Amino acid sequence: MPLLTGVTPDRVAAAARRVMARCDELARVSASSNGIERIYLSPEHARVNRLAAEWMRELGMRTRQDAAGNQLGRLERLVGGGLEPAAPALMLGSHLDTVRDAGRFDGIVGVLMALEVARLLRAPTDDDRYGVPLPFALEVVAFSDEEGARFGKALLGSSAVAGIWDDDWWALTDAEGTTLRQAFLEFGLDPARIGEAARRPAELVGYLEAHIEQGPELHRRGEALAVVTSIAAARRFQLVVEGESRHAGGTPYDMRRDALLGASEAALAVERICAAEHHIIGTVGQLEAFPGAVNIVPGEARLSLDLRGELDGERDRVWDEISRELDVIMGRRHLRWHSREVHNAPAVMCAPLLQDVVREGILSTLPGAMDEPTTLFSPAGHDGMSIGAVTDVGMLFLRNPDGISHHPDESVSGADVALGIRALAESVLQLAADRA
Ligand code: GLV
Ligand code: MN
Ligand code: MN
Repeated sequence: MPLLTGVTPDRVAAAARRVMARCDELARVSASSNGIERIYLSPEHARVNRLAAEWMRELGMRTRQDAAGNQLGRLERLVGGGLEPAAPALMLGSHLDTVRDAGRFDGIVGVLMALEVARLLRAPTDDDRYGVPLPFALEVVAFSDEEGARFGKALLGSSAVAGIWDDDWWALTDAEGTTLRQAFLEFGLDPARIGEAARRPAELVGYLEAHIEQGPELHRRGEALAVVTSIAAARRFQLVVEGESRHAGGTPYDMRRDALLGASEAALAVERICAAEHHIIGTVGQLEAFPGAVNIVPGEARLSLDLRGELDGERDRVWDEISRELDVIMGRRHLRWHSREVHNAPAVMCAPLLQDVVREGILSTLPGAMDEPTTLFSPAGHDGMSIGAVTDVGMLFLRNPDGISHHPDESVSGADVALGIRALAESVLQLAADRA
């Protein structure tokens, strides 16, 4: 049964148009002139935070950028015409950082939809401020680093909020050799204060995120929205293969220790091993040869490995199998190899209660359209993977035409965004009804 009353389709359509226009506006904030690129602690990160803060203040929210560069806006709980400060909050949001050559919706659309839900649900106080007439406060969060595009380690922003920051991360470096610590200082953040970004479980009611699916399931099924059941377990590694650099003309094959060929065989082994598994996906997205000259047999190769699975144990078992296979390949080719793990996030189950409110939210938005909304497991990573350490997580997926994401052609329709805004607002009201 719909709980969002008195909100006309025109008003939701206008909200969706605003989301789409703002996705376009944020897409112009890019480090690259011919694609979207917005990495953690960059000038572009600062600019989108300023824009998001402006849009939050326009809704009457109290805003702050936290100690990890996440941008937050908050509407207090409205009680009897006044505001109750410091009530536990429901967080809505997603991330504003991007991969290289990104689309304009991954993460971004979830932050902007959250703002529209706040707009639909807010109400004025007796003295013309704004709050939410709900049994909790409402926060919108724009996480600063979900992708890990700069330092390899993903989920830095949400890990700080979840209080699971690891001091080893300060030494991570970007492609220019800048450490995470230096990047904090250059951005104007104090590494010593990172702990201040952490939230206590008692401060939060839960975290709800809307996101494009980043895969083809909803598109194939002809459905607009889905309930997410869990988010993949993910590990990322940087692998180094060592051989010997020698003259490309003068070195016979039986003397070569070609690191690039070893790395190439490793990439094929990752595909072979993962493809034989159910729900395990391995990707080698970076491969570089050194010294990188046309006439030198590569003496060193570096490659990345992104490994995901529905269950931590299966993913870890597959990593062990890949490691054993790499020992065999490198042994046969007289190469050495070693790896450094740069990211490790366990699978996160969406909380049954939040799955249920998202399900109710979809059902009351699409009455009669289906008996039960589609449920999907997310092989893509999301901020909820770390936020799950501090509070319950729920997610709503939006249809992603053709399932293309992490690519400039990534898309979502304005009509689906309108449905998603209504479903997310309904989900919040369902949770409110449950807690009243
Ligand atoms: C983030 O989008 C990821 O799944 O890598
Ligand atoms: Mn992404
Ligand atoms: Mn994302």
